[in-house]
Amino acid sequence: MRDFSFHPRDATNLRDSTIFRRNSACGRLIRLFEASSRATLDASQLSPYNCITMAHETANIAVLRLVQPSIEYEASYRSFLAEFQQRQEKLIPFPLLFPADDFRALIKRLRDAQTGLGVPQGFVAHSTFWLINENCSMLGMSNLRHELTPQLAREGGHIGYSIRPSQRKRGYGKELLRLTLEQALLRGIKRILITCAKTNTGSVGVILANGGCFDSEEYISKRGEIVQRYWIVLGA
Ligand SMILES: CC(C)(COP(=O)(O)OP(=O)(O)OC[C@H]1O[C@@H](n2cnc3c(N)ncnc32)[C@H](O)[C@@H]1OP(=O)(O)O)[C@@H](O)C(=O)NCCC(=O)NCCS
Repeated sequence: MRDFSFHPRDATNLRDSTIFRRNSACGRLIRLFEASSRATLDASQLSPYNCITMAHETANIAVLRLVQPSIEYEASYRSFLAEFQQRQEKLIPFPLLFPADDFRALIKRLRDAQTGLGVPQGFVAHSTFWLINENCSMLGMSNLRHELTPQLAREGGHIGYSIRPSQRKRGYGKELLRLTLEQALLRGIKRILITCAKTNTGSVGVILANGGCFDSEEYISKRGEIVQRYWIVLGA
């Protein structure tokens, strides 16, 4: 690995990002540091969606941030959705099903959902996050349910997530869940339930890597598969 360093300007722009080195042999991500503690300027001087262009090791460095849905990522969101549709994959997490023709309306709907506004009966308030890289490209999406209903306790849990199909098996799923767990903790949610199909090896890997403890499993007839439940305890 060659050394790399940041211009102070970059350190500022890296605020709230996690910096990774990519292992050139296997493509896996190795976390170098989180940049939040490096910010030197007042937050009011920063755009929360400020992107960076790094002059160093561009090929081997990944800069990941979790952001709230925003109009500026429209093109990347559409290509993210298109990849799912082209592969006829199930749209996960469920807000990926929301109509996106009117993108501003989609952003408003996602933001409103955080306070429970416009959320259908039987649903709870929820927050959606997008995982963005150094090129402002959307790599993943997560959805945090602010509380459990009996239905979510059985199947669905607190957090759903997905990674762009072309970007899987690179460690992004693990990082997406880790960052979403941080958001859960900020909301005071300390015991997180995550459910997934028993056959979903990738998701089980993501959950275990984030400290998930197996709780139970059940055959859900309407899905025709066994769903597993895992708990993650935060701040212990
Ligand atoms: C599940 C999902 C988010 C995983 O994302 P990802 O970026 O590929 O996951 P990671 O690269 O962080 O991999 C996590 C671990 O699972 C393993 N893994 C990932 N996909 C795998 C697969 N298809 N088969 C076997 N192992 C897999 C990885 O090798 C890694 O293992 P490690 O800890 O030994 O290194 C992604 O496959 C996805 O979006 N699936 C569709 C939506 C979905 O199923 N969401 C979860 C609903 S519960």
